[in-house]
Amino acid sequence: MYMKAIEIIEDARPYYIRFKINPESFSLINAICNHEMSLREFARSFTSYELSHTSIMELISITNRLFKVLDFRRRRVNLFISQPGYYGIPHKDSADMKFGINFVLEAKDNKCVTNWYTDESMIGQQCFDGHVYNGYGGLRATREVQNYTYGTVKPSKSMVAVEGECILFNVNMYHDWFNDSPNRRTVLTLRPVDGSHVTYQDAVDWLFKDLL
Ligand SMILES: [Fe+2]
Repeated sequence: MYMKAIEIIEDARPYYIRFKINPESFSLINAICNHEMSLREFARSFTSYELSHTSIMELISITNRLFKVLDFRRRRVNLFISQPGYYGIPHKDSADMKFGINFVLEAKDNKCVTNWYTDESMIGQQCFDGHVYNGYGGLRATREVQNYTYGTVKPSKSMVAVEGECILFNVNMYHDWFNDSPNRRTVLTLRPVDGSHVTYQDAVDWLFKDLL
């Protein structure tokens, strides 16, 4: 199957583009993730859960060229499970990551908001760029705003993720999310390999060439 964007819902560059893929592909992806989720409890307020090798292989067979063309990392296919009330602080992904694609698998209402912030708006905040403990005995590169209180800085753009949609996400700008909802939100996240030279614009060109 040839996964390509088939409909743009909202073009909000440079922050994000909401889009849809064909419903059959989305359903298959959803089924793979649901199966894994049904085997586990997610007790923490936020879980980044890495899919099993088998699931990733199945997923790649559906998304076909996506992984190759967009340089996605095969060992970094994670579900982000945000429980009611969870707040994820403003950050940019990894050390220099440019974009990601998110598949919104569970979002039962419009109360989980994602925000983007400019660098200028964060001047005066505690912006950390370095390495932190990853929780597994190692370090991970991070760029994050520490000791931040939600609402202090006005976002440049806000978005509500809609179940069944995908997002070409600019992860190279500060972004945060607040699941101010009684329902959990689950997103499948694909991210490029470390040091990938594929840019946000490359991803736009490939995913939407026939549409934009
Ligand atoms: Fe992020």
